[in-house]
Amino acid sequence: MFIVLEGIDGSGKSTQVKLLSKFLTKNGYACVVTREPGGTPFAESLRPMILHDLMETMSRLLLIVSARVDHCNKVILPALKEGKIVICDRFIYSTLAYQGYGEKIDLQTILNLHRLSGCLVEPDLTLLLFGSGRKKLGRDNFESMSEECLLDVCMGYEKIARTYSNVHTIKRMGVGRTSNEIIKIVQGKIGEKQTSSCK
Ligand code: TYD
Repeated sequence: MFIVLEGIDGSGKSTQVKLLSKFLTKNGYACVVTREPGGTPFAESLRPMILHDLMETMSRLLLIVSARVDHCNKVILPALKEGKIVICDRFIYSTLAYQGYGEKIDLQTILNLHRLSGCLVEPDLTLLLFGSGRKKLGRDNFESMSEECLLDVCMGYEKIARTYSNVHTIKRMGVGRTSNEIIKIVQGKIGEKQTSSCK
């Protein structure tokens, strides 16, 4: 099962990734925790460029997809084949939200690029965290985005949640309650998968 956590910077994703993996591991599930951009030595080597270097938005998109292909083929797909639960901090909806809605690259172009690159793994469940979005002051290209652009990213995430049925929106309500809500949704999804694999 492939679970992705999404949200704007400061939405508390990383904390929730840790809490979810702790819960699942404690309950006997084999988990792989990973992140994007990154997750493999090659993809991690592209991460600083993606986050900090100034470049054409299309160049950045190509780097993101390049990192993702490596990550999917070397980490995500092998772990899923071994029956593990993969928990990933950001995935393709980040690209649609930031590069698509934020940086105005055509969404179909982004999707086509993924198709062409053979990067087709789809999350079983995406948990979209909304929150105060504590804005860190300009540490990277995205944290220093204009307010207007950031608003477009947020609106993009809202549209993504309405478009794709596997996306669950979670309003921020404190670390513990958010974690409980996430665990409840994940348990439901695990149950659903077990039932469908028994049929
Ligand atoms: P993140 O790991 O959440 O930041 P940090 O842990 O440093 O707070 O994400 C890094 C940034 O990368 C984030 O601002 C959004 C951006 N990003 C994209 O623009 N497109 C993408 O496809 C991905 C995966 C991330």
